[in-house]
Amino acid sequence: MLKVEDIGYWYTTQTDYLFKDVNLTFEKGKVYTILGSSGSGKTTFLSLLAGLDQPKEGKVLFNDRDVKKIGLTNFRKKDVSIVFQAYNLFSYMSAYENIKTALRISGIKKTDEGDFIVDSLKKVGIDESLIHKRVTHLSGGQQQRVAIVRSFVTEHDLIIADEPTGNLDENTTKEIVKLFKTIAHEQNKVVIIVTHEPEVARESDVTYELKNKQFSIVNNAG
Ligand SMILES: Nc1ncnc2c1ncn2[C@@H]1O[C@H](COP(=O)(O)OP(=O)(O)OP(=O)(O)O)[C@@H](O)[C@H]1O
Ligand SMILES: [Mg+2]
Repeated sequence: MLKVEDIGYWYTTQTDYLFKDVNLTFEKGKVYTILGSSGSGKTTFLSLLAGLDQPKEGKVLFNDRDVKKIGLTNFRKKDVSIVFQAYNLFSYMSAYENIKTALRISGIKKTDEGDFIVDSLKKVGIDESLIHKRVTHLSGGQQQRVAIVRSFVTEHDLIIADEPTGNLDENTTKEIVKLFKTIAHEQNKVVIIVTHEPEVARESDVTYELKNKQFSIVNNAG
């Protein structure tokens, strides 16, 4: 469903490829992780998948359509949710208001919107005592959970996350990865997570490692 064909990218000069001739497929219902050392080009690669930037060579296909034809802005608005390490929530709003705003921005109407928001947050362990607090008064793990709820209530098929567990402890990290897996498996979405943590990669369905300008599949069972 999301596919990259022969993509290559460089920033300043063409001889400095970050990666080249990359062909990968990301299917619905699976969590993918992308591993790689710092500076290898993971965030750059994600920005191409998310329609934030275009590859210098090759193309990105979403449901067999070139995202360039869909239009990058349109693609980002209709199909992609992005979760960052720094959560990117509206800091002056509560968890409840953040989700409500995301629904508004995506044009999604729910008949019982209030209940829907409360239930969605409860699903990830944000209970009633936390829902109406400013998000800056929540812990890092709690804020990340709110960011994840925001990524799935918008009904986008593609969820892209850059180091979503970078600031969190081991147990919270495990829970967050589990949450992504539940979303991918139950809602049939594509989830792609960039991480430098092999423990996170091991929990995912498929792992690719970016090394020496190429992506190779890592055997998660081994
Ligand atoms: N806008 C830019 N202009 C020029 N070079 C850039 C730009 N953004 C990133 N780079 C360079 O491209 C390379 C890849 O950067 P990128 O952010 O994709 O790496 P990364 O794998 O995400 O690293 P990290 O694990 O540290 O987040 C780095 O050498 C970086 O310095
Ligand atoms: Mg990065």
